[in-house]
Amino acid sequence: MSSAKTDIATPMANLKVNGKTVDMPVRSGTVGPDVIDVGRLYKETGCFNYDPGFTSTANCSSRITYIDGDAGMLLHRGYPIDQLAEQSNFLEVCYLLLHGELPNAAEYEEFMLGITRHTMLHEQMTRFYTGFRRDAHPMAVMCGVVGALSAFYHDSTDINDPEQRTIAARRLIAKMPTIAAMAYKYSVGQPFIYPRNDLDFSANFLQMCFAVPCGPYTVDPVISRALDRIFILHADHEQNASTSTVRLAGSSGANPFACIAAGIACLWGPAHGGANEAALNMLNEIGTVDRIPEYIKKAKDKTSGFRLMGFGHRVYKNYDPRAKVMQKTCHEVLDALGTRDEPLLQVAMELERIALEDDYFVEKKLYPNIDFYSGITLRAIGFPVEMFTVLFAVARTVGWVAQWKEMIEDPEQRIGRPRQLYIGAPVRNYVPFSNRG
Ligand code: ACO
Repeated sequence: MSSAKTDIATPMANLKVNGKTVDMPVRSGTVGPDVIDVGRLYKETGCFNYDPGFTSTANCSSRITYIDGDAGMLLHRGYPIDQLAEQSNFLEVCYLLLHGELPNAAEYEEFMLGITRHTMLHEQMTRFYTGFRRDAHPMAVMCGVVGALSAFYHDSTDINDPEQRTIAARRLIAKMPTIAAMAYKYSVGQPFIYPRNDLDFSANFLQMCFAVPCGPYTVDPVISRALDRIFILHADHEQNASTSTVRLAGSSGANPFACIAAGIACLWGPAHGGANEAALNMLNEIGTVDRIPEYIKKAKDKTSGFRLMGFGHRVYKNYDPRAKVMQKTCHEVLDALGTRDEPLLQVAMELERIALEDDYFVEKKLYPNIDFYSGITLRAIGFPVEMFTVLFAVARTVGWVAQWKEMIEDPEQRIGRPRQLYIGAPVRNYVPFSNRG
């Protein structure tokens, strides 16, 4: 394939296939790689584009989030993630992702009230939880309960009504912490704690998880600020697997609650949102600094099937910018709780140091990702490992919703329907039982 500028306005890429040459427009974004629009490829050549894992495929245009994986940069609506994590708060970032600009004071106040008005769950939904076993993974509960929202909030499921889309977006952002905290409370056999709208987003979530009706609970501001930062770091991340799942589900016209439930299901996997749980389990398994070389060796051995969890990323081929903030947050939390000597932190820091100097990891550009330090931090705050992915889902809901809204409002949007390279049996006739060998 060659790229030729056939006219000044529209650069074209030419692909020669089966003796035919097809001209395909090359489109540029504001920053980042250009894309070759292959939309006419099949019509003109009879061939499909083959790209398992979408390593070279852009599925949409988007104005929300930008990652430069080589530079280790993540922007939300143009703002670097570290600036947002240091200077903003989660609800402001939600507004930014949904609306494209930072809010002024009046817009922020209106948005905050819009969220806090929706924090409670329909009371009947609380009975859903008793249908699950107490030992169910909270992500299983999340898939079920979030999917069920569409059975309770019919007045915000018309995707063609902008007003209903806004209400659904706010309901999802507001109710997700309540649903998640209830999943936790159910798993430990404690009564549900209702939301408190006088607290900020993260402080309210902490009290719903850790308060009990029989005594006072005071939110530690260092911990709630740390959690807020963790939520900001996870708020959106371009066209990752769960976001693409939400877009694909939404492309058929499914309602937003069903789409977000699909996103939660995808996030659950260990290669995606489940990685912080897997990273912490791995650090626990390593246990002591002297065992690190054994695990580094195992990670480099392809036959072992073992990978260093919390290392590597499809897009970042440099230090994940979120991991830097996460590492700092981890230290702050452990300092505040007086657990700086936590042995797992020592293992993590030494593992990171050794891996970053090891040829295998250097050559493959494998750096710690956000999940490497988030598990230690969340565990120190008091969350059991099963809740880690749930917290990720609470934070990512705004990203999913913003991307879903953008897709619905995009005039180019069509149902997502990938094609395939068929490698199965060609046409053959049915064989009756009596004739089979
Ligand atoms: N440990 C050891 N080797 C690794 C690791 C790792 N964590 N990650 C990648 N590699 C190696 C692969 O074996 C492969 O080697 P090869 O080229 O010799 O075959 C090479 O690096 C490229 O790896 P791929 O799996 O092809 O990279 P891909 O982009 O498909 O995968 C992924 C990215 C899934 C994140 C991978 O790095 C991984 O499994 N990491 C561990 C799980 C993890 O931490 N996931 C969190 C992702 S971040 C998030 O979801 C918030």
